[in-house]
Amino acid sequence: MNIRSISLLVTIAIGVTALGLVASEYGERYEVYEREHEGEREGREHGDESSSAYLSDAGHALYKTECGSCHLAYPPIMLPVPSWKGVMGALGDHFGDNAELDTQTARKIADFLARNAAGAGQGRYAEGTWRSTRGRTPPLRLTETDYFRGQHHEIPVRMVMDNPGVGSFSRCDACHRGAERGDFDEHGVRIPGYGDWDD
Ligand code: HEC
Ligand code: HEC
Repeated sequence: MNIRSISLLVTIAIGVTALGLVASEYGERYEVYEREHEGEREGREHGDESSSAYLSDAGHALYKTECGSCHLAYPPIMLPVPSWKGVMGALGDHFGDNAELDTQTARKIADFLARNAAGAGQGRYAEGTWRSTRGRTPPLRLTETDYFRGQHHEIPVRMVMDNPGVGSFSRCDACHRGAERGDFDEHGVRIPGYGDWDD
């Protein structure tokens, strides 16, 4: 092996290590969070019944029509109130798209989101989301909370970003077959091209 190929290998090794460090940072922050809240999870390991409560809210039909045409009408409990306020306050520049609504419709949806947002004492997903975002700048994406990252950090990039059947974590319904019903139990997960998720 000559000097050039050795230095190339070293460069690759450094790059891979750096990527690994970034990925494990989220995992570690979440693990700290998990340790602090152990016990709250006891007996509630699978699914979360309260995650589908928003479906029976009178505002859901409108929410689904207006916010479910470009992507899944995301489960409101996966973001806290300040985050939804941020999203609803900037619909004209919505992740590169224009998702503007008339004032009355926007108000109704904002109220629906506030009623169903993550908060304390509402079940595992809501509680986890609320705690992991409390006291921080409210993220505009569900996929950017430490809670979300903690639940998904074991899934390799080749199954998500590099997977033509998925593309990004924002496409919940690509993997969670029950996403429309508010069902995110890991037993209902099937990753396109890889089959059922078996932890
Ligand atoms: C015109 C299409 C369109 C409409 C209508 C729309 N969105 Fe979006 N939304 C997008 C795009 C594009 C993204 C970025 C998706 C990505 O990064 O893959 C996005 C992302 C999001 C995200 C972040 C998802 C994540 O990554 O965690 C939230 C939250 C969201 N939208 C909420 C809403 C709400 C609430 C409404 C209704 C008021 C709405 N959207 C209506 C196009 C739309
Ligand atoms: C690439 C496939 C994939 C995508 C896309 C995805 N998830 Fe997941 N999700 C999983 C897998 C796999 C698990 C189980 C992980 C584990 O057990 O280690 C999971 C776990 C979860 C959990 C915890 C389930 C429980 O009962 O503990 C929630 C909540 C969740 N996902 C919500 C979402 C939401 C909301 C979105 C979209 C914003 C999303 N996921 C996008 C694959 C995905």
